[in-house]
Amino acid sequence: MSSMNDAQTQGPRAQGRFQWRDNGLGFSPITIALHWIVAALVLAIIAIEIVQWISPGAELAKVLNLLGTILFPISIYRFWARVTSWHPLPVGTPNPVEVIVSRSVATALALAMVLLPVAAWLAKSAAGQLVELPGGWFIPSPMQPDAQAAQVFDVLFRIGATPFVLGLALHIFGACKNHFVLKNDALKRMLGKRVEL
Ligand code: HEM
Repeated sequence: MSSMNDAQTQGPRAQGRFQWRDNGLGFSPITIALHWIVAALVLAIIAIEIVQWISPGAELAKVLNLLGTILFPISIYRFWARVTSWHPLPVGTPNPVEVIVSRSVATALALAMVLLPVAAWLAKSAAGQLVELPGGWFIPSPMQPDAQAAQVFDVLFRIGATPFVLGLALHIFGACKNHFVLKNDALKRMLGKRVEL
């Protein structure tokens, strides 16, 4: 009879079964698919934020809210999956400090994806604004307008968003360094390549 332990040590691929969770040998196809869906959503959100900053528009703001709303439940699943699964062994022979830093940054990014949408929602609600979505939909507000609370949530959002963007830049830099300088399979593994460890 197979057990959770088999799945984590041998890898369900070896047993010819679908790999639902990450294990020491590789990422699950779910992790890989969600990683790139989240990456596309986050990069789209950052691009829309920049456009909104240059010339604000109500319709684009609704699209931004929609992308954030889709991102939120996916992020909850990913953060849970990240902290409750084994992380695949690093490819190549990186130094241990780099492994610790890169994994901490990735996990912090996953956590930020859960906390930042909540902070943004609370900041808007406290400022008396509804989170409007395309098609006349909106996310209900959890609180009465409160100017002081709005300021606190706004500051918390900014305190979180700044290191998030820096961490993301470091994360993408690390991926590029692995791919173009060290020429290992770290990025290809995140694109679905099976890597023998
Ligand atoms: C173009 C953008 C991105 C690239 C090129 C990229 C690249 C990678 C690569 C190569 C790995 C595998 C590292 C390993 O082997 O341990 C990885 C893992 C990871 N990345 Fe990214 N990434 C990008 C965007 C993002 C974004 C936007 C987030 C979240 C906000 C994110 C969060 C994570 C997390 C949490 C992991 C650990 C595995 C997991 O649980 O999904 N990445 N990334």
